[in-house]
Amino acid sequence: MKLAILSRAPRSYSTQRLRTAALQRGHQVKVLNTLRFAIDLSGDEPDLQFRGKQLSDYDAILPRIGNSITYFGTAVVRQFEQMDVYTPNTAYGISNSRDKLRASQILSKHAIEMPATTFVRDRADVIPAIERVGGAPVVIKLLEGTQGIGVILAPDIKVAEGIIETLQSTRQNVLIQRFVKESRGRDIRALVVGDRVVAAMRRVAKGDEFRSNVHRGGSVEAVELEPAFEEAAVRSAQIMGLRVAGVDMLEGSSGPLVMEVNSSPGLEGIEAATKLDIAGEIIDYIDNQVAFPQIDVRQRLSVSTGYGVAELVVHGDADIVGKNLGDSGLREKDISVLTLHRGTHVIPNPGGTVVLESEDRLLCFGKLEEMRSMIPARRKRSRKVKRLPKHPIQEQA
Ligand SMILES: Nc1ncnc2c1ncn2[C@@H]1O[C@H](COP(=O)(O)OP(=O)(O)O)[C@@H](O)[C@H]1O
Ligand SMILES: [Mg+2]
Repeated sequence: MKLAILSRAPRSYSTQRLRTAALQRGHQVKVLNTLRFAIDLSGDEPDLQFRGKQLSDYDAILPRIGNSITYFGTAVVRQFEQMDVYTPNTAYGISNSRDKLRASQILSKHAIEMPATTFVRDRADVIPAIERVGGAPVVIKLLEGTQGIGVILAPDIKVAEGIIETLQSTRQNVLIQRFVKESRGRDIRALVVGDRVVAAMRRVAKGDEFRSNVHRGGSVEAVELEPAFEEAAVRSAQIMGLRVAGVDMLEGSSGPLVMEVNSSPGLEGIEAATKLDIAGEIIDYIDNQVAFPQIDVRQRLSVSTGYGVAELVVHGDADIVGKNLGDSGLREKDISVLTLHRGTHVIPNPGGTVVLESEDRLLCFGKLEEMRSMIPARRKRSRKVKRLPKHPIQEQA
């Protein structure tokens, strides 16, 4: 294959290893500086220029987009996607994982355990927020920090409040997160390639530092992961839309707590700790997937008028519980089931003999009108509709 590694650090360990691994396998490979692309929307088809010249054809890209250029970098990746060039990490996945809040919001919908986290803006909401996640000591994080910079442990509520106010006054958004004491300056980095963990290490913070980042002096050792950690890592990467990812987890008292998912994981520490050829794994994975460029399914499936994608939930009292999919009547209504989600389990392309259970979630493609009546009512948090107050709500001018 012909592969482009998008990176601004051609000499870094990770880029060099990926490039060498590709060459050793007989691929053509170029390291292209992400910032030298021009996105061209003037012609008939989406196109790219590199250093002012028409870009040649590539089979795949491997984006290594740094934090400081997320917007431009993801725009370039998105352009490659529009040109049907395969990428293991989509623009959508990279930008979602980059923002710690956005990532947590997405993961929390899929039953991934994370340290209790809250996000507030108003001064008056800061102290209740800290108390909600368990009180001091409490962790404060900048939304787009990396390498441990922007992660602070505040010893008491007053200090926490001061730090948050200071950061907010300089227009920085911060997360407030429970301090997971039991993990004692240690965390797990799992490297996910495709749908498996190819390597994992434990990072141990230096001295009394609580951040275990290698950039903060943390040391690394290879670990054999328990299945719960493997599953959490693979699912997190998958949910974020990343096929190459470094998933960071704390070792909570009742299992893995996912902290973040990195879309350009460094290879130096983990290859040194595990003595495994991770760069080779990544290249082989891309080589195997090249035939399947990323498709924005929702967008492509919504182009026929009246048809679209929707998630239907099987209710406990619905008459299709206990029936198999073939007898559910969905097919007759022109509805195809693409995947079936049962708890944390997914059955892709479920056949007609799969028996439906209560609370199954069916990702379907079909006639929107038919599906509308089957979409569950939104979960209500407060059931009662309050009466209007005696006095008008809007003040008269
Ligand atoms: N809630 C927490 N409880 C305990 N330790 C934490 C917590 N959040 C982060 N840490 C420590 O700080 C390090 C950096 O945090 P992380 O969220 O991964 O930010 P960064 O993107 O800067 O690496 C983690 O690797 C971990 O060792
Ligand atoms: Mg981290």
